[in-house]
Amino acid sequence: MGAAALILLAALAAQAPAAGDPADIIETCLSCHEDPSLELTLPSGETLSLTVAREGFMTSVHGGRQSCLDCHTGMDEFPHPALSARTRREFRVASYEACKQCHFNNYTRTLDSAHAAALSRGDVNAPTCVDCHGSHDIRPPGEPRSRISLTCGQCHAGVSAQYATSAHGQALADHANTDVPVCTDCHESHAIEGATSGNWRTRSPDLCGSCHGDAALMEKYGLSTAVHRTYLTEFHGMTASLDATKGDGRTMSALCTDCHGVHDIPRASGEQAAVMRANLANTCRSCHPGATDSFPDAWLSHWEPSWTHAPLVYAVQWVYWVLIPFIIGGLLLQILLHVWRVVVNR
Ligand code: HEC
Ligand code: HEC
Ligand code: HEC
Ligand code: HEC
Ligand code: HEC
Ligand code: HEC
Ligand code: HEC
Ligand code: HEC
Ligand code: HEC
Repeated sequence: MGAAALILLAALAAQAPAAGDPADIIETCLSCHEDPSLELTLPSGETLSLTVAREGFMTSVHGGRQSCLDCHTGMDEFPHPALSARTRREFRVASYEACKQCHFNNYTRTLDSAHAAALSRGDVNAPTCVDCHGSHDIRPPGEPRSRISLTCGQCHAGVSAQYATSAHGQALADHANTDVPVCTDCHESHAIEGATSGNWRTRSPDLCGSCHGDAALMEKYGLSTAVHRTYLTEFHGMTASLDATKGDGRTMSALCTDCHGVHDIPRASGEQAAVMRANLANTCRSCHPGATDSFPDAWLSHWEPSWTHAPLVYAVQWVYWVLIPFIIGGLLLQILLHVWRVVVNR
């Protein structure tokens, strides 16, 4: 490293860190940290490469506008202050705290997440900002959108592989379709909640409904928007909504995902689909053990009764629509007539 670098460092140290020109600070730091052989052996025995790639950093979202010192406060001293981290993991967990100075919202959102809970349990596999975004070579996180499932897939490889085979995942991969959900549309990116327990799971039909009940969106794919509406009015959906209001995260009923799958949702007509005609009775049997092959016939599925589908049910509905107003109307008329007679005959 050059003597000039040391002089610059001394000059930097003499003033408040923020006062330095970012470009100067970056050049000073890189005068040593571009050296590909610079590394450090941590107390754990792991080596930490100290090389920072100029190109990656300068073209990152921080683009050289944020200087090294914005994240590495105090590092303008040389020799640098003694490092307290004993392992690479400890170093990362200590370093990521720097992000919160400028991205406080994202930081506070992560604090309530299932990931933060795992991190505080001491789970060394739980992600910090750096595991998902990187440190120096940070790119716009949602571009292209298919990158998101790769980011999560670093640790949730099984889920990510299932997702890739689903109707949603295939539309994303084959047509870069931005209407289908990626991991973060269902789970959020920062405030990720526990997915298998708690109220989140029982609320999931609303999540599906936010797209599958959207007429403009579903029209593009020729899919029925009745799926959400009919679900809410049939026994399974009604029971599930009641359970969701109790808030203990348990439901005694079938959610969308019990019939369609979660990450591996196939097309409803696909051969693999649990809701495909030939597989349907088996799907019901997971909860209705005695169900016969014709059991699903007694159920309206997502059909709204009409003269072509379930005409009997539709007829009964019509009878109610006509009869009930007729009876109540007649009753009111009768009362009014009585009142009229009383008033007139007085
Ligand atoms: C004169 C060469 C030199 C310069 C200039 C320099 N460093 Fe270092 N840096 C090192 C060396 C050598 C290490 C290895 C650990 C040590 O000796 O402290 C290191 C380690 C580090 C580490 C690893 C963690 C740690 O705490 O040790 C970080 C982060 C770091 N430097 C950041 C910076 C930043 C930011 C700047 C610019 C403000 C900078 N360095 C300027 C030589 C330099
Ligand atoms: C946006 C914040 C940020 C900026 C700006 C930044 N760093 Fe870092 N740096 C980090 C984080 C976070 C880590 C920990 C990375 C990890 O654990 O993988 C780190 C790690 C390091 C390390 C240890 C080796 C490594 O890559 O893990 C060195 C050396 C380092 N930075 C130097 C620099 C230099 C030199 C600059 C300026 C050219 C700079 N940093 C700019 C956040 C930043
Ligand atoms: C000194 C302030 C500062 C620090 C510290 C900082 N950032 Fe940033 N970050 C910014 C600014 C400013 C932008 C650019 C915003 C823009 O272009 O709209 C940005 C952009 C980003 C983006 C892209 C946002 C987008 O909408 O595409 C990500 C991701 C990001 N930062 C992550 C991090 C992470 C992770 C850390 C910690 C390792 C960190 N930042 C530390 C100031 C900072
Ligand atoms: C589990 C992975 C993960 C973790 C941990 C994570 N992020 Fe993100 N972050 C993402 C993804 C994915 C996106 C893109 C979201 C999208 O487009 O749907 C994103 C988006 C962002 C953005 C740009 C959009 C916005 O919401 O402002 C910033 C800035 C950001 N993250 C900063 C951070 C910071 C700072 C931390 C740590 C406190 C952090 N992230 C932790 C995955 C993560
Ligand atoms: C660095 C590894 C890592 C990355 C990257 C990561 N996760 Fe996680 N995730 C974990 C760990 C560890 C847990 C805690 C596992 C546990 O509690 O059993 C977890 C838990 C979860 C949970 C709760 C699981 C449950 O059983 O309730 C969800 C949901 C989740 N992650 C979604 C995501 C999404 C979405 C992304 C991408 C934006 C992502 N994760 C990125 C490691 C990661
Ligand atoms: C269409 C919405 C949706 C999408 C897209 C989605 N998930 Fe999930 N995810 C769910 C639901 C609902 C559950 C709860 C499953 C249950 O009922 O047990 C869940 C459960 C999980 C769990 C915990 C249980 C398990 O299977 O391990 C993890 C981890 C997870 N998701 C990660 C991801 C990742 C990573 C992606 C992207 C590759 C993703 N999810 C995409 C809706 C979704
Ligand atoms: C972000 C919006 C969005 C969310 C959330 C969403 N979907 Fe989808 N889904 C779509 C779109 C768009 C398609 C059509 C994709 C295509 O045809 O290429 C689709 C396709 C499907 C299909 C295949 C239909 C067929 O037979 O062609 C099923 C089944 C499905 N979704 C079920 C679900 C379930 C269950 C959930 C909740 C766990 C859910 N979706 C959440 C947007 C969404
Ligand atoms: C008890 C099982 C069951 C539940 C619960 C269920 N579905 Fe279905 N779903 C089916 C069956 C069976 C079919 C295909 C047969 C048909 O067309 O009636 C289907 C078809 C679909 C289709 C394809 C529609 C089309 O136009 O081709 C979508 C999308 C869908 N369901 C979404 C959902 C959503 C969203 C939920 C929750 C709000 C849900 N389903 C709840 C069994 C179920
Ligand atoms: C995840 C479990 C689960 C699955 C899968 C499931 N059901 Fe149910 N179903 C229930 C529960 C629990 C009840 C009783 C509580 C209620 O009314 O929601 C019920 C109630 C019913 C009822 C009302 C009459 C009765 O027996 O109480 C019918 C009819 C029915 N289901 C049909 C079906 C059909 C057809 C399928 C397959 C397409 C199916 N169910 C799949 C859990 C499930």
